[in-house]
Amino acid sequence: MIKARVVGTGSYVPERVMTNFDLEKFLDTSDDWIVTRTGIRERHVAAEGEMTSDLATTAARRALAMAAIAADDIDLIVVGTISGDYPWPATACLVQHKLGTRGQAAFDVSAACSGFLYALSSAVSQIESGRIRRALVIGAEILTRIVDWEDRNTCVLFGDGAGAVVLEGLEGDSGVLSTHLHADGSFWELLHQPGFGSVHPPSVEGITARLPYLKMQGNEVFKIAVRSLHEVALEALEGNGFSAADVDLFVPHQANRRILDATVKRLGLRDDQVYVNVERFGNTSGASIPIALDEANRAGRLQGGDLVLLDAFGGGLTWASALLRW
Ligand code: ACO
Repeated sequence: MIKARVVGTGSYVPERVMTNFDLEKFLDTSDDWIVTRTGIRERHVAAEGEMTSDLATTAARRALAMAAIAADDIDLIVVGTISGDYPWPATACLVQHKLGTRGQAAFDVSAACSGFLYALSSAVSQIESGRIRRALVIGAEILTRIVDWEDRNTCVLFGDGAGAVVLEGLEGDSGVLSTHLHADGSFWELLHQPGFGSVHPPSVEGITARLPYLKMQGNEVFKIAVRSLHEVALEALEGNGFSAADVDLFVPHQANRRILDATVKRLGLRDDQVYVNVERFGNTSGASIPIALDEANRAGRLQGGDLVLLDAFGGGLTWASALLRW
């Protein structure tokens, strides 16, 4: 049977680093508060003129180079993002253009921090059905342009970056074993960007009311995140006849160290089974899993045959997992 196998990974984060001490200079916050509550020490911030599609394209080029596959040989480009270049067209179309290729399908997936896993699942289905052979799946965000830099409750949490994987349909046991996707729209308001859309069309009053900026009820999100991340990880493991002890590497969405630790504890995983980089990048939403996956891959943490568990939670609310045989 054909499985969608990861044959290349790539990532890119902007050069500029903003530490918690930099935030202290213009915000009523402290390095100690941020580290204690979130584990985040610094995040990367896109330069003026640097777009989400630029980050995505660099990550994609690196993944394609590792896979030794030309952009023209890709059949599908999917980008998980909530901070694309424009409301539309899809950032995936701009990435396609920047990669110098054309013709293949290209679209974005809006599932916030779960966006990469939603995008991955869509590409996997198309590969398994035989409709396509190769896909480029990207998570890319410039959240620092949609956070409210006057709101200490949210702006300290997020950062910019992009990660990508090249998937290829190949015979054998390696590849994506399953994906599980969920959502509960009744919680949409806990984490959202009010403007501008059909509810709040563009207006000067809307800007004054700070509608284009991300809003979050952190406490509520935290509780639901821990529960859902645990459930969807178990769903992946049990659905494939595995237990937590079988996992070689757990690469969770890097939202917050406390959410991550709670999930790891509930699952009964050891620290050496988990990849964590939230302290250096903050929450990069849809980009966090593919950035972490690429780092782990390039650091030699992923070997052929390893069982790799991914899970994510984000606005929507959405949550998702994927289990891979590397
Ligand atoms: N610096 C200093 N003080 C702060 C800051 C800050 N940056 N932010 C909030 N505070 C203050 C609050 O004003 C509050 O003060 P008060 O008691 O005088 O009113 C106090 O700290 C406690 O605030 P809480 O919101 O109760 O703090 P909490 O312990 O819940 O931590 C946090 C907040 C870190 C946002 C937490 O709720 C959380 O991690 N939530 C998950 C949210 C998340 O990660 N979302 C990302 C998207 S979804 C995802 O990716 C999973």
